Amino acid sequence: MAPPSSSSSSHRPLLILILISVLLASTGPAYFFADGLELELELGGHGGSLLYREILRDETVLRLKELGKISDGEGYLERTFLSPASIRATNVIINWMKDAGLTTWVDQMGNIHGRFEPANSTKEALLFGSHMDTVIDAGMYDGSLGIISAISALKVLKVTGKLQRLTRPVEVIAFSDEEGVRFQTTFLGSAAVAVQDVLKLNSFEATAAALTQARYSPESVGSYVEVHMEQGPVLEALRYPLGVVKGIAGQTRLKVIVDGSQGHAGTVPMKLRRDPMVAAAGLVVTLESLCKDPNKFLTYDEECECFTEESVAGLVCTVGELLTWPSASNVIPGQVNFTVDIRAMDDKVRETIVTSFSRLVLQKCDDRLVDCTVEHKHSAPATPCDPELTSQLKRAAVSTVSSLSPAAAGGTTPVLMSGAGHDAMAMARLTKVGMLFVRCRGGVSHSPEESVEDDDVWAAGLALLNFMEQNVVAEHSAAVLPELS
Ligand code: GLV
Ligand code: MN
Ligand code: MN
Repeated sequence: MAPPSSSSSSHRPLLILILISVLLASTGPAYFFADGLELELELGGHGGSLLYREILRDETVLRLKELGKISDGEGYLERTFLSPASIRATNVIINWMKDAGLTTWVDQMGNIHGRFEPANSTKEALLFGSHMDTVIDAGMYDGSLGIISAISALKVLKVTGKLQRLTRPVEVIAFSDEEGVRFQTTFLGSAAVAVQDVLKLNSFEATAAALTQARYSPESVGSYVEVHMEQGPVLEALRYPLGVVKGIAGQTRLKVIVDGSQGHAGTVPMKLRRDPMVAAAGLVVTLESLCKDPNKFLTYDEECECFTEESVAGLVCTVGELLTWPSASNVIPGQVNFTVDIRAMDDKVRETIVTSFSRLVLQKCDDRLVDCTVEHKHSAPATPCDPELTSQLKRAAVSTVSSLSPAAAGGTTPVLMSGAGHDAMAMARLTKVGMLFVRCRGGVSHSPEESVEDDDVWAAGLALLNFMEQNVVAEHSAAVLPELS
């Protein structure tokens, strides 16, 4: 990694002076290290470059654990859009943003913003962020890692006196909804910032005032960068801690409602039943077969005639939630509804699967004499990441990895496609987007088993810091000491 300008050991006295100034300016020890760690920046020992281990690794990990405990559930992590736990988490995140020297506010969609605005800057802002909401029984890295590592990188700029040398506004946004658990539609937070017709398309109504307040104009934003755990096994298999993202798969979410005849489990003969549970079970299997082998199901006159192996790569379909009414062991259900999540890199493939599945639902429900409706909940096209941002992130990742483990110097940063959705998809409607992925254990995510090595958390923070230094810190201006209050 290119050493930061204040990083050589000969500059250590200046650094210590800056740090003491920051401490004096603070309201107490909690200002600098809310978690009570001792102030000590480590010299990495690789060419003397400062690797900011205490902030970018130790404190970031402590904060991930702290946020991971703020839950609406007892004994598991659940923090959905605007829930009581989200409000508690908001206060914690605001304090961290302030600790990094940022001005904070919460918009009317519940997104938390922390911004540093250089004096007299008219330049477009560089945005960083990810989501603060979680799935049910979540892990502690999905979303939180991107928020906290961006705050930590900015905190390093603050303690090294570089925040005052920013050439353009920088902002971290903790988005209020990306998972879409509460309303089945997703990106409520980032869509409000980026592109509000998407909210309306997905049937989410917010007041005009809330939307106006949340919205950013394209002219005011230069780019958006998101750090995220990979949620897949590729980086682990390649034994590399960081990767960059080329593009994000498009996704569609549906809700299927199956209505039958509710009745007594002991008295209605099998032949006379209109059982929505059995119909739903058949539909779930149909979906699986369709996505495993689409060509088998599509007739020649389908819009895309047939899929190539390449075009169906990454096609995945999931039923993750199934509810039955009245849900009792001795009652034939009256209604069953379930969610459908369809993703593909190729939008045409995804749209054809959605159309075909909807048609198959109606056919199969007719056969079983049950009534079915397919509701469209959410759709987002596949999103390419900006090539220039991706190259910059790649360079930042390469120099980070070689500074943390010189043995890895000369390696190349893997380039991945993302099957998971990200706030970057909504933000791409507003500005250029780039993403940095972080290796995780076993590719596991949306599970309490999510795990990212502490050193990989560190690598992500360092790469982000490197990226910020390349992009927004003035190269040659003199270091400015933090002001004393
Ligand atoms: C978000 O994690 C998604 O891809 O569903
Ligand atoms: Mn996520
Ligand atoms: Mn997620």
